[in-house]
Amino acid sequence: MVESRNGVSRNRLTPRNSLCFLFFLFLAVPIAPSSSSREWDGVIVTQADYQALLAIRSELVDPHGVLRSWNGSALGACSGGWAGIKCAQGQVIVIQLPWKGLGGRISEKIAQLGALRRLSLHDNSLTGVVPQSLGFLPYLRGVHLFNNRLLGSVPPSLGNCPLLQALDLRNNLLSGPIPPAIANSTKLMRLDLSSNSLTGSIPVGLTRSPSIAFLALERNNLSGPIPDSWGGVGNSTYLLTTLTLDHNRISGSIPPSLGKLGLLQKLSMSHNQIGGAIPDELGRLSRLRELDLSFNSVNGSLPASFPNMSSLVVLNLEGNQLRGLLPDALDRLLNLSMLNLSNNKFQGKIPSTIGNMSSISKLDLSENNFTGEIPSSLQNLANLNSFNVSYNNLSGPVPSRLSEKFNASSFVGNIQLCGYSSSTPCPNSPPPQSSISPSAEPSMGSRKRKLTTKDIILIAAGILLAILLVLCCIVLCCLFRKKAAAKKKNGKPPASTAISEKAGSSGMEVESGGDAGGKLVHFDGPFVFAADDLLCATAEIMGKSSYGTAYKATLEDGHQVAVKRLREKTTKSQKEFENEVAVLGRIRHPNLLALRAYYLGPKREKLLVFDYMPKGSLASFLHARGPETSIDWPTRRRIAIGVARGLNHLHTQENMVHGNLTSSNVLLDEQVNAHIADYGLSRLMSGGAATMVATAGALGYAAPELSKTKKPTNKTDVYSLGVIVLELLTGKSPSEGTSGRDLPQWVASLVKEEWTTEVFDLELMRDATAIGDELLNTLKLALHCVDPSPTSRPEVQEVLQQLEEIMPEASAEPGNEGTEVPAPMVE
Ligand SMILES: *[C@@H]1O[C@H](CO)[C@@H](O)[C@H](O)[C@H]1NC(C)=O
Ligand SMILES: *[C@@H]1O[C@H](CO)[C@@H](O)[C@H](O)[C@H]1NC(C)=O
Ligand SMILES: *[C@@H]1O[C@H](CO)[C@@H](O)[C@H](O)[C@H]1NC(C)=O
Ligand SMILES: *[C@@H]1O[C@H](CO)[C@@H](O)[C@H](O)[C@H]1NC(C)=O
Ligand SMILES: *[C@@H]1O[C@H](CO)[C@@H](O)[C@H](O)[C@H]1NC(C)=O
Ligand SMILES: *[C@@H]1O[C@H](CO)[C@@H](O)[C@H](O)[C@H]1NC(C)=O
Ligand SMILES: *[C@@H]1O[C@H](CO)[C@@H](O)[C@H](O)[C@H]1NC(C)=O
Ligand SMILES: *[C@@H]1O[C@H](CO)[C@@H](O)[C@H](O)[C@H]1NC(C)=O
Ligand SMILES: *[C@@H]1O[C@H](CO)[C@@H](O)[C@H](O)[C@H]1NC(C)=O
Ligand SMILES: *[C@@H]1O[C@H](CO)[C@@H](O)[C@H](O)[C@H]1NC(C)=O
Ligand SMILES: *[C@@H]1O[C@H](CO)[C@@H](O)[C@H](O)[C@H]1NC(C)=O
Ligand SMILES: *[C@@H]1O[C@H](CO)[C@@H](O)[C@H](O)[C@H]1NC(C)=O
Repeated sequence: MVESRNGVSRNRLTPRNSLCFLFFLFLAVPIAPSSSSREWDGVIVTQADYQALLAIRSELVDPHGVLRSWNGSALGACSGGWAGIKCAQGQVIVIQLPWKGLGGRISEKIAQLGALRRLSLHDNSLTGVVPQSLGFLPYLRGVHLFNNRLLGSVPPSLGNCPLLQALDLRNNLLSGPIPPAIANSTKLMRLDLSSNSLTGSIPVGLTRSPSIAFLALERNNLSGPIPDSWGGVGNSTYLLTTLTLDHNRISGSIPPSLGKLGLLQKLSMSHNQIGGAIPDELGRLSRLRELDLSFNSVNGSLPASFPNMSSLVVLNLEGNQLRGLLPDALDRLLNLSMLNLSNNKFQGKIPSTIGNMSSISKLDLSENNFTGEIPSSLQNLANLNSFNVSYNNLSGPVPSRLSEKFNASSFVGNIQLCGYSSSTPCPNSPPPQSSISPSAEPSMGSRKRKLTTKDIILIAAGILLAILLVLCCIVLCCLFRKKAAAKKKNGKPPASTAISEKAGSSGMEVESGGDAGGKLVHFDGPFVFAADDLLCATAEIMGKSSYGTAYKATLEDGHQVAVKRLREKTTKSQKEFENEVAVLGRIRHPNLLALRAYYLGPKREKLLVFDYMPKGSLASFLHARGPETSIDWPTRRRIAIGVARGLNHLHTQENMVHGNLTSSNVLLDEQVNAHIADYGLSRLMSGGAATMVATAGALGYAAPELSKTKKPTNKTDVYSLGVIVLELLTGKSPSEGTSGRDLPQWVASLVKEEWTTEVFDLELMRDATAIGDELLNTLKLALHCVDPSPTSRPEVQEVLQQLEEIMPEASAEPGNEGTEVPAPMVE
């Protein structure tokens, strides 16, 4: 990785409280603007900071010479010359040197850097202790020292940092107790102390913190019970979304107050020594997606409120002492994908309603005391790819589709279960239990003595038959395994993908950085981060548009997001802006790029945070690929349908015009599914800017009437959709190679001259015999969309409906038609 030393401050923010918008630019981005605008307020570092930096350098071990740039006079330190240093007004505010192979210790002199906001030295080989003196830094917000070899204890002094938002010390060699004072930081949002050797119990203060959203203490040596004071005393909303305490030596029982954490999405307590019953209050966790209590000593039965945790995706209760019947209404857990109840004492019948839980992909009920038959409704679980009911007390035949799909090891250990392998055939009629009971064998033995010749012949024949049977078995088994393996290969994606796709419902808001006047608001999404994490993320420019600049930002924890920095002067006033952006943040559709958060800086700078789309835009996917990469028709038609679906949702559900739909605004995820971007952004712009934006930039995609009306409508969107479909069919970009005419005119002229087949992308013609009609019908539809007269154009619902009729396969699940695709290009 080549990291540029030029941290470019692209904003004119001045004072100490708002200066951290310092995206590092990668040299690898060729189109990054020349790092000109270095408008530092003070270039010369203060003497105190200069001395502190020299002291820090002297205690670090630097095998790769990263700190060689920390040389010379105080002149260079703040002007971008010293690696990993960011300043404001001559004071160091950021030290950011991850993955640099640094050893040695972090000097206590670091406290002389009075303006330090962020210390990020993760993924090095640092030893020694976490400096106690960090507690003297009043502006410290982020401490990221994970993946090092730090020793000693977590300094209690960190609790004195009034602005501390993120403390990440995971995966070090820290010992001693968690200092209760840590909970005194009222801005602390993310605390990760996992994978150390911390001892003692969980401080009560942490359970009452109104600011912590992410608390990870797993893989330590913590003991004692979990305090029962979660959610504090009142009933205000607590922000905790993730709580992981697994792999410790925690005892006691599950505290009922956990039920107060209304935003909790993940709760893991596995591999501890927790006993007692599951409290009824847990049923209140309606946002909980992942519950792992495995390998404890939890007893009692599942509380009646259990099915109220309706967002559950993963439920693992393996290896406990749970007993009793499963609740009748488990099937209300409609999103449950993995259910592992293995190794408990559950009894009674397997509820047939499990067959209604269509998302289930993994179901493990092994090593319990379930009785009765396996309900045939389980055959309906189309996504089921892992199933185990072994070692129970089940009886009767295994439903045929289950016995075909899963091998004997999913069913063994149920003496009265039959039909799952050739050695356990079911009798034709429902068996009278005695006939197959093992008690028949001894009586046979007792008759052995009085053998006649006839008997001997019969026995010999029997033995021969048995040998033949065994041989048959072996051959069948082999065939069966192959089949099962083949099935596995073609199986569904694993549960984990499902987790990340399914987001919780409504918006949770985290306001932070009140100190700086900055404000970060999250909508629902897969993860949370602090404002500083965002502002100091490593970023590269992806492109610029009339709305502003888009960056790909990598957060400290490795998550990638797309950040759009809006042009400051052109947006609406703050109140209007917030109203509008809240609307955008609620829009969720698989073909619309999700807005996850926004940030308002103290100087009116506005950042929007979206999902990052690794395959870039449709424009570069189509037009900037290598000559040997082809894109087949199934991929193209899936993109076309995706764009139509996204636009249909915008028009019909959100009552929103896009106004700037182009192939550069259609982004592709890892599976090459289309996500429309930039919808609704014009609503964030002030009047004049909004219309300017709406009509600019869409050259080639803008309907002809726009030049007069200047007002985008549903019909101008349909025109743009038509151009995109033409682009997919012809492989041509609307801006080039069509001899002066725009793409619709060019296509129309060829069709008129009956050279229709000349229109299509050459690659598509290879399979044209198979898909010819589909291509022609799609072409007709696209030409209908780009009709010069707006009233003649269809509505997007009609377009979608016709596309789905023309391309029935594309309406189904995205297949594995993975074409080799080019890397996304930077625009
Ligand atoms: C100081 O560091 C800069 C940047 O790495 C380097 O170009 C320069 O030669 C160094 N000067 C000395 C005296 O080491
Ligand atoms: C935390 O803050 C409170 C007052 O806000 C103070 O009384 C207490 O001593 C502090 N705790 C620690 C451990 O510093
Ligand atoms: C945890 O504590 C126990 C007993 O105090 C000790 O034997 C064990 O080595 C500790 N484990 C770790 C990982 O520190
Ligand atoms: C807590 O909630 C209860 C009922 O849900 C309500 O009566 C009470 O006033 C609330 N308390 C506070 C402090 O908001
Ligand atoms: C459940 O566990 C608790 C605590 O470990 C224990 O006191 C209680 O006796 C157990 N109950 C049953 C029915 O085993
Ligand atoms: C489940 O939730 C519903 C609605 O929120 C509530 O009426 C019901 O009492 C809950 N059930 C249990 C057993 O807590
Ligand atoms: C759930 O499953 C049961 C038994 O298989 C069936 O009778 C019932 O109609 C199903 N309910 C729904 C809502 O599908
Ligand atoms: C349930 O847990 C056991 C033990 O971790 C594991 O072997 C099994 O694969 C799990 N079942 C599923 C369906 O993941
Ligand atoms: C299993 O359940 C049956 C009744 O359903 C009960 O008689 C038996 O004792 C249970 N076995 C165990 C080991 O709990
Ligand atoms: C199996 O169930 C029968 C009754 O249904 C019971 O008598 C027997 O104890 C159970 N076996 C086990 C191992 O629990
Ligand atoms: C089912 O569970 C049993 C016992 O836990 C285990 O031995 C077996 O390998 C499992 N089979 C499958 C297919 O996971
Ligand atoms: C289940 O997942 C779907 C799709 O992700 C989501 O829309 C729905 O809200 C989820 N249901 C619950 C109860 O969480």
